[in-house]
Amino acid sequence: MAEAVTWFLLSGMLMCGLLLHSVHKQEVHENNPSKKPNFIIILADDIGWGDLDANQQERKANNTPNLNQLAEQGLRLTDFHSPASTCSPSRAAILTGRYGLRNGVTHNFAVGSVAGLPLSEVTFSQLLQKAGYYTAMIGKWHLGHNGPYSPTNRGFDYYLGIPYSNDMGCTDTPGYDLPRCPPCESYGPQVIRVKRSAHGDCYSKTGLPLMENNSIVEQPLDLWTLTEQYRSAATRIIHNARERGQPYLLYLALAHMHVPLAPPLSPDASSTNHRVYKASLREMDNLVGAVKSASDETDKDNTLIWFTGDNGPWEKKCQYAGSVGPFMGKWQTSRGGGSAKRTTWEGGHRVPTVVYWPGRIPANNTSSALLSGMDIFPTLLSLAGVTPPSDRRYDGIDATNILLHGEQGGHEFLFHPNSGAAGRFGDLQTVRMGKHKAFFITGAAEACGGATGEQQLHNPPLIFDLERDEAEETPLDAQTLEYQAAAERITRGREELLWDIATDQSVSTADYSTDDSAAPCCNPRHAVCRCSTLG
Ligand SMILES: *[C@@H]1O[C@H](CO)[C@@H](O)[C@H](O)[C@H]1NC(C)=O
Ligand SMILES: *[C@@H]1O[C@H](CO)[C@@H](O)[C@H](O)[C@H]1NC(C)=O
Ligand SMILES: *[C@@H]1O[C@H](CO)[C@@H](O)[C@H](O)[C@H]1NC(C)=O
Repeated sequence: MAEAVTWFLLSGMLMCGLLLHSVHKQEVHENNPSKKPNFIIILADDIGWGDLDANQQERKANNTPNLNQLAEQGLRLTDFHSPASTCSPSRAAILTGRYGLRNGVTHNFAVGSVAGLPLSEVTFSQLLQKAGYYTAMIGKWHLGHNGPYSPTNRGFDYYLGIPYSNDMGCTDTPGYDLPRCPPCESYGPQVIRVKRSAHGDCYSKTGLPLMENNSIVEQPLDLWTLTEQYRSAATRIIHNARERGQPYLLYLALAHMHVPLAPPLSPDASSTNHRVYKASLREMDNLVGAVKSASDETDKDNTLIWFTGDNGPWEKKCQYAGSVGPFMGKWQTSRGGGSAKRTTWEGGHRVPTVVYWPGRIPANNTSSALLSGMDIFPTLLSLAGVTPPSDRRYDGIDATNILLHGEQGGHEFLFHPNSGAAGRFGDLQTVRMGKHKAFFITGAAEACGGATGEQQLHNPPLIFDLERDEAEETPLDAQTLEYQAAAERITRGREELLWDIATDQSVSTADYSTDDSAAPCCNPRHAVCRCSTLG
């Protein structure tokens, strides 16, 4: 610990020197249009729209001071949506700028998945890498971990992270007990507590592999060290890139706020109360603050930081799930079942989002333009002056003018794919158009307490007015002119998109087959893939 503090102070002092240096350099580059910006994309996992204090100022919470500052110095996007309501499809759409119906990724990959994001798909990291960027990824990938599907083969020069969710694969609790540890807690795997007791550090490690490039560097993984490992890798990447003078892309896909949560807590803290989630949120916020500081100390005026989420909170985890804010999906919850992650209710895909670029993005403002995580692809490429391949169709839009010049126009239509709540995976069953949102199918996820709703078809669709009814409680009366006009345009827009996808020559198909031998395991002969025998 003392060593880390010294290192931090030292690097802080060094940075002051660098800062003067960079002010001078910046002037030189000021009018040089060929200087490419750096990009830091931070993707939180299972975070709720309401988890960002700045989104719910009336609550006066103080869990995300660093993100609040990012918003105060940047632009908060209040109507920004993850491209899907679960992990793999959301990430695939972010990286390719295309709906899952085109890129092939419509549901999650497994520990034993033999493949991943189809190799026919092109990621923005591949395109930026080709354009001369240094590209690094830290964190959760979840787009296939074998051979050609791994991050270093999909456009990243460097990778440090876990190949899928932190609750996947063998964990020490409840499935596997370390020898000499007391039996597992009865409340399940959501939180694994450090027990610095006579028993040693039980429950602190999971069978997850930590990968660096294509090698397993730690297995089992100590979740309590993961945040610090990510922090030090991220700041190192930022500082090194600055020294090389090469533009960079850092894609930081956090383990936060996905269970198991492993925040610093006093060993005797009760893990059944709400403090665990808040402590974890603060830990995540701190990590974001460290990344922002590293960027501010190096190439501040030339770096875009984009913070967002991969889908809404995992409601069935109860006190270990985040807040949807006012987006409560009441039509659904009043009929049973949850309305967040995995669903197309607002809580499932409206995610807290902040963009920050000092001097380029006006400070302390908000935009309610209708935007999606798929827009990251065309926006980054546009800012970098890179033209994406023209042999395929994209669904993201270039949001440059919205971010930099306060324009309002977002998506005319935004489609929300089924992510497990109803119907076929990937189907575009819910459509946003302006303030209206139409459901052709409704369905629920498992709620805290286990309730699940029924899938229902709606013909004509249910349409909500999100301006008047952000909780999606009471659909418009189908007899009204407002309903009829919206229904007609939405139905036509949806048919046009489905036709466009049906005639797209570049649609990919993902191979979802699994095989036990595909699980990343540093010693297959060991019970839970441990590198070494237990001491
Ligand atoms: C990861 O791969 C990059 C690119 O090949 C290489 O420069 C770097 O040294 C590798 N890092 C490790 C730890 O293997
Ligand atoms: C940001 O804007 C709000 C009002 O929209 C204002 O109260 C606050 O003081 C502003 N903050 C800064 C740092 O300018
Ligand atoms: C915020 O952005 C809007 C839209 O561009 C603009 O009209 C408004 O002046 C901005 N507000 C501030 C305080 O900059």
